[in-house]
Amino acid sequence: MRGRWKAVAAVALSGALVISGCGGDGGGGDASEVEVFSWWTGPGEADGLKALQADFEKKNPGIKFTNAAIAGGSGTQAQAVLASRLQNRKPPDSFQGHAGAELLDYIKAGQIEPLDSFYEENNLKQAYPQQLLDQISYQGKIYSVPVNIHRSNILWYNPKILDEAGVSGPPTSIPEFIDALKKVDAAGKVPLSLGAQWTADHLLENVLLGSMGADAYNALWKPGGDWSGPAVTKALGEFAEIMKYTTAEAASTDWQGAAKAVVDGKAAFNIMGDWAYGYYVNPPPNGLAKKLDTDFKYAAAPGTEGVYMWLSDSFTLPKNAPHRGGALAWLKEVGSKEGQDLFNPKKGSIPARKDADKALYKGYLEYAINEWNKPGIKLAGSFWHGVYSNKKWHTDIDQAVGLFLQNKDVTKLQQALVQTAKANAQ
Ligand code: GAL
Repeated sequence: MRGRWKAVAAVALSGALVISGCGGDGGGGDASEVEVFSWWTGPGEADGLKALQADFEKKNPGIKFTNAAIAGGSGTQAQAVLASRLQNRKPPDSFQGHAGAELLDYIKAGQIEPLDSFYEENNLKQAYPQQLLDQISYQGKIYSVPVNIHRSNILWYNPKILDEAGVSGPPTSIPEFIDALKKVDAAGKVPLSLGAQWTADHLLENVLLGSMGADAYNALWKPGGDWSGPAVTKALGEFAEIMKYTTAEAASTDWQGAAKAVVDGKAAFNIMGDWAYGYYVNPPPNGLAKKLDTDFKYAAAPGTEGVYMWLSDSFTLPKNAPHRGGALAWLKEVGSKEGQDLFNPKKGSIPARKDADKALYKGYLEYAINEWNKPGIKLAGSFWHGVYSNKKWHTDIDQAVGLFLQNKDVTKLQQALVQTAKANAQ
């Protein structure tokens, strides 16, 4: 099953193993506590983690859980703090890392341990799709425990605003999208909400995918990917046009503020990963308790119907984790069916395991599970959320986008993207 993963050939986790003297992943080690590092602090994000923590504490009454989450959507602040902790050899007991190229950075730097015997002991190999295991493996060893699959290419929209603006339904192509943005603008509402700068990077991956299609988008991230050609020029021109209809960057409210603008009736559209769904429907105080189909609706981002732009959050065992026993107990929770079925309905994601209890996934999440398992669906890896780009490439693109937000110069943006692809594609 899941032959489609192969078509993506996302990130080749190959090359020389630079780790030496790994302790292996046998049991043992201090199990008195566990410090878990993530960026799930904000509204929506925190609920999933809380559910997982509660189940962990119930099953491990002797282990003190410390939540070391650092605020900032998509890990913008957390990843910087983590990098310095790892450099100073003060790792948390377990940290969040995205499957794919991002995880490969930690592996190559010798910062995390392989988990093969842990997988054996907990019968985990059979629980995950092989192609996901490929995204967290390097030289035949497995390095993390995935908790979910998120979809990054979702268009969230306010049906009433579309109605009022004379937009008949969610746009299914980039030109239709631009047309709809213009109509909403003329009707006096915010066409497309944006949050912190990273949400513009997130928008960029969606416009590249929607404009170029999955095959051409996927090819961009492989060595020799053609960033200088007319297809990218066209997509970046469309990105620039779309950006004219966004709100000014609102760093303080991150992605949540932008998502909320849609259900508050202030903005017509927001393009965001499906963590927005958890935020919309979860009960207060973290969630907004909004109703699907009344307060908001969803569709694949324009031009991306039939493509699942995926990412996966996974947890690691850092080398020299101070409470190794606690970390392994946490990883067991993260990899468990119960844990994933408690976490994902709150987080707005679907389980990474194949044996989820489907009945627990309602509304948008039912659609997400069905899409994920639909024969013929195409996969694309999210670059912003770690699948296709390592941390350096990710930062370089963010800088190029930051400059573009100031100078609006599409040619310079494309030149910068060409340069960084040359430097970083592997
Ligand atoms: C992603 C992460 C998601 C969600 C999102 C917004 O990078 O994988 O789980 O947290 O950022 O913060």
